[in-house]
Amino acid sequence: MNLLACVNSLFALLAATVSANTEKVIFLAPSPQTLPDLPYPLDRLGSDTLTPSNLSVRKSLPVAFPTIEDLYTVESWYLLRSLNPGQRYEVRICWAAIQPTEFRLEVFSINEILENPDLLQGAAKSSQRHQETSEASTADTGAESVFSLRIQAAAAFFTTNQTLMQHPPPVNVDIILDPYLANIFPSSLLPTAGYICCLAVIGWYISGIIWSFLQSTVSTGKIHTD
Ligand SMILES: *[C@@H]1O[C@H](CO)[C@@H](O)[C@H](O)[C@H]1NC(C)=O
Repeated sequence: MNLLACVNSLFALLAATVSANTEKVIFLAPSPQTLPDLPYPLDRLGSDTLTPSNLSVRKSLPVAFPTIEDLYTVESWYLLRSLNPGQRYEVRICWAAIQPTEFRLEVFSINEILENPDLLQGAAKSSQRHQETSEASTADTGAESVFSLRIQAAAAFFTTNQTLMQHPPPVNVDIILDPYLANIFPSSLLPTAGYICCLAVIGWYISGIIWSFLQSTVSTGKIHTD
C-alpha cells in the first residue's frame, strides 16, 4: 500500500467520525425574580424545562425551510429554571449530521418576552404545541433565577422528493445545560480534561523510562567498543 492510499484511508476514517453537529449559547444567570402569572397559552412555557438537576432533554424539534423574508420560521421555547444567579452556563444543542439543520439559540428574560410582541408571538405558538400534552407548570416557587431559551430551526437540505421538501421531518436533538466551573470551564468537559492530564503524566513517566533505557544501552555499548 502506498503512502497516498494510507493518507486517503486515514482521512476517510476522520470524516466518518465527524458525524454530529452542535450549536450553543453562553450566558450569565440573571438575578432571582418571581415568575409572573403568565397569560394563556404562555403558562405552558414551563412545561419543558432544564434545571441544574435535569441537565439534558432529548427532543424531536419541528423544522421548516426558510422563506424569502425569514431564515427561521419555526421556534421552540424552553425554560431554564433554578439557575445559580451570576453563574456562567452554556446551553448546547446536538444533532446528527444526517439531518442537516441550521439552529440559532438565544436566551431572554421573562420580562423581555412580555415586552416584545415578536418574542411573545413566537413563545405563544411554541407553548400552544404543548397544550394537549402537558399541564401548566409555571407554579409559583418563590423567587428564582430563570431564563427562557429560544431555539430556532431551519431545514438545510435539498431533495427532489416533493413530500420531504414540503414537510421536512422533525430533527432529533439533545439539549444540554452545562454549568461552568468557577465561571471558566464547562463541567461536562472535566472527564476529557482529566483523561488528557492522565495521558500526559503517564507519557512523561514512560518517556523517562525509555530515555534511561536508551542511555544505559548506549553506555554499555561504549564499554564494549573501548
Ligand atoms: C419521499 O419521501 C417520503 C418520506 O421519506 C417517502 O415515504 C417517499 O417514498 C419518498 N418518495 C419518493 C418518490 O422517493
